[in-house]
Amino acid sequence: RRFNVAIVGATGAVGETMLSILAEREFPIGRLFALASERSAGGEIDYRGSKITVEDLATFDPSQVDIALFSAGGSVSKEYAPKFAAAGAVVIDNSSAFRYDDDVPLVVSEVNPHALKNRPRGIIANPNCSTMQLMPVLAPIHREYGIERVNVATYQSVSGGGRSALEELGKQTAQIMNFQEIDPQRFPVQIAFNLIPHIDDFQPNGYTKEEMKLVWETQKILEDSSIQVNPTAVRVPVFYGHSEAVNIETKKKITPEAARELLGKAAGVEVVDRHEAGGYPTPVTHASGKDPVFVGRIREDFSHPRGLNLWVVADNIRKGAALNAVQLAELVAAESAG
Ligand code: A2P
Repeated sequence: RRFNVAIVGATGAVGETMLSILAEREFPIGRLFALASERSAGGEIDYRGSKITVEDLATFDPSQVDIALFSAGGSVSKEYAPKFAAAGAVVIDNSSAFRYDDDVPLVVSEVNPHALKNRPRGIIANPNCSTMQLMPVLAPIHREYGIERVNVATYQSVSGGGRSALEELGKQTAQIMNFQEIDPQRFPVQIAFNLIPHIDDFQPNGYTKEEMKLVWETQKILEDSSIQVNPTAVRVPVFYGHSEAVNIETKKKITPEAARELLGKAAGVEVVDRHEAGGYPTPVTHASGKDPVFVGRIREDFSHPRGLNLWVVADNIRKGAALNAVQLAELVAAESAG
């Protein structure tokens, strides 16, 4: 069986990668619809060598769509995802619009695929990029050793902010190299040659929304609201790939050797952990353009009897967004095949 697929936000950084991953993985597509705002409607995008005309989401009729992948921001999802679902499509939504609703499953393909079956609203949420890459690493450890607490500091690339954010880092870098004044627009302060401990809106508790996503989403995906998560989310001047310095406290002690062995077998995870120059993953050398979540710097936390340190790196546009969305689409497609 083939599926009519719509990409909402097809001209964006994530939408474009959704299209290339659908092609790479030979998703069984019948008709493909590329949707965006009226700004880019009428333009063309390439899919497996043929041209597809971008259509305006506002005037598009969703009734022939089987699966819709949304990545055009929260307000677009809030307005259009229910309309697509009402027209019979299964919506896989990359925004934060529905992630915390009890009747919307939040799914990482390797971790909690069972949750996807229970979707009364026809909407499945794709987790935030920084939670996404942590889950395939934490889930097997939680299952066998019980995670009590997670301390995590993120080093998030600008591509998480979309195309305009990628452009701003490039532009500021060139301007500074040429001794020109910069004028921050997409980020609150200069991002080139700097870093910013502020992603998404500040919350009343002093954390940012990006940080709270790590708390809410970890508990929902691992189906355990007793896990304590303490995050600091930082934007860094890297184009592609998020990194995370992670410290966990487990109920049962896990040694670095046991962690290396467990993670060596974990789906979607690749251990890169040699104690020598370059023997660890970085966004540029390992993650960018690749599917797995890479983990290294695995070592005992010598300040805590049951603490372990990890360094987790992944391509935030691929596993952090587009790849997982396509993997969820594959799971949905497999339902009607089987
Ligand atoms: P457009 O190219 O027409 O602006 P990014 O995250 O890289 O900034 O991409 C955002 C994506 O969401 C783009 O494809 C953009 O389309 C799309 N988009 C933004 N606002 C809307 C809207 N109101 N209706 C439909 N698509 C939208």
